[in-house]
Amino acid sequence: MLTDFTTKPSFDIERVPHILILGMGGTIAGLAANPLDRPLEYEAGKVAITTLLSQIESAIPKGVALVSRQLANINSRNLLEAQMSALGYAVREALANSMVIGVVITHGTDTMEEVGAFLQLTCGKYSQTLGKRVILTGAMLPANAPTADGPSNLLDAIRWAASSIDDCPGGVFAVINGRACMAIDLAKRHATALNALVQDSPSSSAHLINPSWLSGVKAIEAAWEGDLPIPGGQEWPWVEILTSHAGARPQTIEQWLSADVKGLVLAGTGMGGFHDAWIEPLQRAVSQGIALVRASRTGGGVTLADIPEKDLLGCLPSGILNAPKARIALQLALNAEIQAKLSGKPLTWQDFFARIVDLPEIR
Ligand code: SIN
Repeated sequence: MLTDFTTKPSFDIERVPHILILGMGGTIAGLAANPLDRPLEYEAGKVAITTLLSQIESAIPKGVALVSRQLANINSRNLLEAQMSALGYAVREALANSMVIGVVITHGTDTMEEVGAFLQLTCGKYSQTLGKRVILTGAMLPANAPTADGPSNLLDAIRWAASSIDDCPGGVFAVINGRACMAIDLAKRHATALNALVQDSPSSSAHLINPSWLSGVKAIEAAWEGDLPIPGGQEWPWVEILTSHAGARPQTIEQWLSADVKGLVLAGTGMGGFHDAWIEPLQRAVSQGIALVRASRTGGGVTLADIPEKDLLGCLPSGILNAPKARIALQLALNAEIQAKLSGKPLTWQDFFARIVDLPEIR
């Protein structure tokens, strides 16, 4: 077995084809004080990636070399935008390295969907072009729980990143709870269930690829023309999510008009509509140059243009993206507009955002 879990560069192993494992923390690296009786009372991000790998060492497929790097060890609810940038740069660097055949990222599940969208939109084309897979994984139970799901999730992710799933192209995926999906399809839909993340995402078995899912993946990858730039750590445009609800007040919008916020994602009711009390202050927001996107707070389905009412001028629907993913997409689109202007291209955030929302859906 070619395995070296050192976080320090180990030059021999780095000179053979290997999978790079990037540790970000999360429950997969969590520890409970009383794992037998109270496994859900735990602290995330306590166990080093080297330890997680040594626990599954005997099951790692023969001949697969692994190199690990601990990028962070946090509870992902505290994830910073600068940490996302660092992760994006690390993934791009790994993809560019001819000795890296794939990348596995262990991550907290709470914000894995945001990171999945971020990686798809900034590294999806690059990984696809190089034929390498970037795989996100995590766990719902801490590492010392008697039925911890982390070890099998990590092993499945390593197998998926290695070349054993022959027909699957390069790209950004998530492998968790025996399922595999495109990382942009992830959504955490349950607080505690082991299948919290891919509960109703279009997905495949992690062990036997589903051909109709695979053709959907290929259609999305063909439609994704090129990656968006990774914002520098301090350059992420400020975008907030506001949820519409019974009794919504205009002040909820008005208070942002004097802030330096660059965009608002409205998590609307039903098909992504919002309370009439918001119409007038949102019109003011648009006229001030604040970018507006509408999503649905329901957690499923698609938000479409001019449904349920005609959109405010300049406001875009989020398509299949839920509010947290739409927020990341809007931040990347706003940043892409800034970068385009710097290189003399007259593209707007709406041009970039529409490219994301127009991607085909896996059915
Ligand atoms: C986290 O997101 O870091 C904690 C929750 C989890 O990983 O399931």
